[in-house]
Amino acid sequence: MSQAAAVELVDIWKRFPGVVANAGANLRVERGTVHAVLGENGAGKSTLMNVLSGVYRPDEGEVRLDGTPQRFHTPADALAAGIGMVHQEFRLVPSFTVAENVVLGSAERILRRQDVEARVDEVARRFGLATEPDRPVWQLSMGERQRVEILKSLWRDARILILDEPTAVLTPNEADELGEVLRHMADDGRSVIFISHKLHEVTGFCDVATVLRGGETVAASLPVAETDAATLANLMVGSTSLAGERPPYRTPGEVRLAVSGLCALDDRGLPALHDVDLEIRSGEIVGIAGVAGNGQRELAQVAAGLRGSTAGSVHLDGKDVTSAPPRRRFGLGLCYIPEDRIGVGLAPRLSVVENAVLRTYKGHRRGPFLVGSRLTAYCRDLVERFGVRTGALGDPIAGLSGGNLQRLLVGRELSGRPDVVVAAQPTRGLDVQGVKAIQDLLVAERDAGTAVLLISEDLDELLTLADRLLVMHEGRIVAAFDPMDSERSVIGEAMAGHLADEGAA
Ligand SMILES: Nc1ncnc2c1ncn2[C@@H]1O[C@H](COP(=O)(O)OP(=O)(O)OP(=O)(O)O)[C@@H](O)[C@H]1O
Ligand SMILES: [Mg+2]
Repeated sequence: MSQAAAVELVDIWKRFPGVVANAGANLRVERGTVHAVLGENGAGKSTLMNVLSGVYRPDEGEVRLDGTPQRFHTPADALAAGIGMVHQEFRLVPSFTVAENVVLGSAERILRRQDVEARVDEVARRFGLATEPDRPVWQLSMGERQRVEILKSLWRDARILILDEPTAVLTPNEADELGEVLRHMADDGRSVIFISHKLHEVTGFCDVATVLRGGETVAASLPVAETDAATLANLMVGSTSLAGERPPYRTPGEVRLAVSGLCALDDRGLPALHDVDLEIRSGEIVGIAGVAGNGQRELAQVAAGLRGSTAGSVHLDGKDVTSAPPRRRFGLGLCYIPEDRIGVGLAPRLSVVENAVLRTYKGHRRGPFLVGSRLTAYCRDLVERFGVRTGALGDPIAGLSGGNLQRLLVGRELSGRPDVVVAAQPTRGLDVQGVKAIQDLLVAERDAGTAVLLISEDLDELLTLADRLLVMHEGRIVAAFDPMDSERSVIGEAMAGHLADEGAA
């Protein structure tokens, strides 16, 4: 009577040196459903998806599709069996068009460019994926790039689509659009596996949820309609959830970071910042709200010295650092938590220890004198204080989960006792506890007298943490709010570029 499910992962075990990533995990996904896989950082979600998509072979356990046991040796095997995976790091060729990227590597040969574009467009429309097949990928936003990744899987006729934290890089609107695309795919009889830490997306987009904790399935196939966000959060952490409460606020001190008349260009050489003025005082968190791509990223980079300005100035503690390199700014007490942790922040091939001192080493010129044992002790302390879950400290950080990488990075930066913190999306992609841990750290910094610039796409986070809230739109600061006394809808309007008081300012 019981019909075989589209996907069954049965009692999957996967061990890495020092870590059991999957410890008897189970997952059963039915046809025509959007299935959420939940769990805190390091719970084993990505590992389980890598088993399903042929990246890893499980140590034990079985993968079944429509009831038939499978043995995938490579991702290509899994793809041939109908499994498509949309990775968080997009694997697109920037100089190719959307259509070229979609068909790249697929067996099909279509000679005429217009035919390819027309067929890609047809598939895109069928699933409500708005794209322009003839545009080069480098011109596209994150949301658009992701749609190209999804199209690639649909082009290869994937019946099972895995999306690992797809909304982490999307704006709230793009995330909602993605939700609709997932629904189209399910209605078309496909199965979608959706990983996210944002519980409102799970309750909003998904039919069923499976929760992992410590590599095991602790709740299997819960109907979303019969549960709620609080229940899911409790299942993930295994204890009562953490209610956000606004920390008390004291009068700020002197100006630490001052930006005046700042203009800068983006990666494409187009104006990204227009005449930005900003002052952050000791003991305050100034939040920057805005839809991604409105200059927030460039503002953080110019403040940290990683991007040049075309006009205006940056002062740290009254000293003009407009053309000073990052190292000099770090020396003056600035710390920067970049939004892309791998690349700018961390070196994937180096060990946990090496990454933990990457910055201290440079900033304090202590490097050559840091002996092995002291280094290890320093690193062990950091890992403990900031709750980084890792195997051996000498192993490369490439094996850490996304959230644990972020904790390591934030811990390293904050342990340098900064005077000014520039934090870009510091809690992106973290689970409930990880978010709380990092938010607590930022508040503790503020209470110790640090000036904090917090850039976030999460309005709730800004409303909880910021003492003052500024909104950026098209490279300008267009509005300022008191987070204690502002309507979300009014802030949202400002984020969209609609200003209530046209006459003012
Ligand atoms: N290639 C690897 N080598 C060593 N350890 C690994 C490897 N991949 C994952 N791990 C470890 O296995 C555990 C599970 O990691 P996984 O990436 O599956 O977690 P996750 O649930 O996806 O977490 P996150 O929400 O932070 O992305 C973690 O402790 C991680 O450090
Ligand atoms: Mg993961």
